[in-house]
Amino acid sequence: MKRFLVTGASGLLGLNLALKLAEKHPVTGVIHQPELEGTPFEVLVTDLSLPGEAEWVLEHCLPEVIIHCAAMAIVDECEKDPARAMKVNADLPGRLARLAAEMGAKFVHISTDAVFDGVRGDYSEEDAPNPLSTYARTKLAGEIAVMAENPDALVARVNFYGWSLRGNRSLAEFFYNNLSAGKPVNGFTDVIFCPLLVNDLADMLIRMAEMNLSGLYHTVSREKISKYDFGVHLARQFGFDPELVQPVKVSEGGLLAARSPNLNLNTTKLAQALGVALPGIQTGLEKFHGLSEEHYPEMLHGFLPV
Ligand SMILES: NC(=O)c1ccc[n+]([C@@H]2O[C@H](COP(=O)([O-])OP(=O)(O)OC[C@H]3O[C@@H](n4cnc5c(N)ncnc54)[C@H](OP(=O)(O)O)[C@@H]3O)[C@@H](O)[C@H]2O)c1
Repeated sequence: MKRFLVTGASGLLGLNLALKLAEKHPVTGVIHQPELEGTPFEVLVTDLSLPGEAEWVLEHCLPEVIIHCAAMAIVDECEKDPARAMKVNADLPGRLARLAAEMGAKFVHISTDAVFDGVRGDYSEEDAPNPLSTYARTKLAGEIAVMAENPDALVARVNFYGWSLRGNRSLAEFFYNNLSAGKPVNGFTDVIFCPLLVNDLADMLIRMAEMNLSGLYHTVSREKISKYDFGVHLARQFGFDPELVQPVKVSEGGLLAARSPNLNLNTTKLAQALGVALPGIQTGLEKFHGLSEEHYPEMLHGFLPV
């Protein structure tokens, strides 16, 4: 048993991760708005980007492992407020990484596949990033700050989907919510990614922390898929009409920030470290469906204050 601190514990990754960790470990989750009740882990509410707050939180819970999931993670919001994006996505993780090093805690930082421009694909950890959006630039600055302040830190570049607190945070929920209501949705045929089910990602991050891995790891599915095909596969998995998923180009999507077309990341380094292949797309979607059959989404919504 180790004492864990999870930031962003109301977010898509943070909540699923903190719940999994709490099965075996004492966990404190930091959230920004008071929007969690009845969780099996301690909750602290604060804006970590304010002076002194990160220090106060760490002194309060004296964690042995910090998994930093809090971020300004909505890509188009970062475009509208680049100064705040830099503060939250770059300055904050750098500061937390330094504090973790000073107190001897393991620091695990969550970064993104979007640090690459997506022109070539099949990116390894050795390839040079070239971020296209404010979100991606600030996340890359966060990686650099973390490694400079704490060379023992683990930085995981991720992409994931799953069930969230309010049912509206992931691409899979976007497809599910529309397709289950019989509504047509756009799926980008020219954007490739390697999404992991968030519950599988949580298990992997816990294992990586337990193994005390350090440095950069691509932590995504071993398989790639277009966003359109992902929607079609999800529709088939749930028995929805796959024809409702409309094939469109990303340029037709009305998005503010530039998106990288091919975010196929090479996962060989992590597979070798873990000694297993990383999960594939279809297995993840089957589990995503299985969780809905087990009323997992309703369990998550139950943590919202009434
Ligand atoms: N979703 C993906 O596929 C994806 C892909 C690549 C990388 N990532 C990375 O994965 C991590 C988790 O993403 P996610 O999708 O789980 O994000 P999310 O659902 O938006 O959750 C982010 C969490 O951080 C909290 N937060 C933001 N600013 C904060 C602050 N100043 N102080 C305290 N808490 C703050 C948010 O609280 P409020 O909502 O109350 O502000 C929220 O709970 C992020 O680092 C993201 O960049 C995500």
